[in-house]
Amino acid sequence: MILVTGGAGFIGSNFILDWIAHEQSSVINLDKLTYAGNQNNLATLQGNARHVFVQGDICDAELVRGLLSMHKPRAIIHFAAESHVDRSIHGPAEFMQTNINGTFTLLEEAKTYWQTLSGEEQSAFRFLHVSTDEVYGSLGADDAPFTETTAYAPNSPYSASKAASDHLVRAYHHTYGFPTLTTNCSNNYGAYQFPEKLIPLIILNALNGNPLPIYGDGQNIRDWLYVGDHCTAIREVLAKGRLGETYNIGGWNEMTNLDVVHTVCSILDELKPAADGKPYASLITYVKDRPGHDRRYAIDARKIEKELGWKPVETFETGIHKTVRWYLEHAKWIENVTSGEYRTWIGKQYGAAS
Ligand code: NAD
Ligand code: TYD
Repeated sequence: MILVTGGAGFIGSNFILDWIAHEQSSVINLDKLTYAGNQNNLATLQGNARHVFVQGDICDAELVRGLLSMHKPRAIIHFAAESHVDRSIHGPAEFMQTNINGTFTLLEEAKTYWQTLSGEEQSAFRFLHVSTDEVYGSLGADDAPFTETTAYAPNSPYSASKAASDHLVRAYHHTYGFPTLTTNCSNNYGAYQFPEKLIPLIILNALNGNPLPIYGDGQNIRDWLYVGDHCTAIREVLAKGRLGETYNIGGWNEMTNLDVVHTVCSILDELKPAADGKPYASLITYVKDRPGHDRRYAIDARKIEKELGWKPVETFETGIHKTVRWYLEHAKWIENVTSGEYRTWIGKQYGAAS
């Protein structure tokens, strides 16, 4: 058994599907089902005894304790978090609660559980903390990409809360010898991503003939990684990573937001031309910049490649084609996630422009 937190979210659900396909052991999936959690992401596992879903909060120490003593997992893969920068600007409290207090609760309960394990089980146990490149702050155009030794300099409430959780994980290893692994990954894209994030938001807005909102001048740079490659990297780190270490994971694929949006538009032009015959890029609309918007993220992923032999399989071209196709083929999934709460968020963030 492994325990996955946040397994009904974007990356967590991709990870569970990948795990069930490639590994032998079962998964307990602890997820609170916030607006970002969606059991439809795991619909193909319905009736599969290797996936046990538990709705609950990682901040609930008693629940976590009970799950650990009942299922005796050999590893915890910790995805659960509030994950959207713009939401952290509107309402940071939830980010502090889940990302910091939740990670603390999980670490505390996991450490206590780990201390009760017998020698062999104890040395095999792993706590893998899934984090982000945003903890390193923002790069200038000519700066070298982030390495594992780059100083932390988080700029948003989201990245600050993730940085705090990374520090807690580090401290539990250093102080208690608790067997941790931390991964810091760049921007993911792929199936099941909630359409508040750039790529699925652009796909859905384009298909609905709505404006495609570009913050600021559109020249901010992100490194994009296909979610399937992230999942493979996490499995490699879990299997072979050195205890207490952190591993940067990235796609070697830096792009400006404007280039990303143009790429998505031209794939849509090819696969599903707009009814009015206009190119989707004609919907691009420049909107007010995000406060404190980080200019550039770039990941140096040489450590994981050298130590563990991991490299991304997808290029941006192959990954983004798969992704756009997936959204075109999953109208029902889209319909489900874009009801209620989603409309409230879009109204709040984009106002009349939406
Ligand atoms: P997501 O927002 O899609 O999913 C988060 C999941 O966590 C949801 O299913 C939600 O219900 C659950 N959750 C939230 N609060 C919880 C709580 N208190 N208790 C239990 N479950 C809770 O996020 P994602 O994009 O899948 O990201 C997963 C992890 O990967 C996060 O830790 C994030 O910081 C990290 N990460 C994301 C990216 C990215 O590009 N999306 C990149 C690098 C790292
Ligand atoms: P996002 O997907 O929110 O990820 P992150 O902020 O974690 O990198 O945003 C990716 C980039 O796209 C970021 O520079 C902000 C920008 N962006 C827009 O220009 N317009 C939008 O509507 C959104 C959601 C993001």
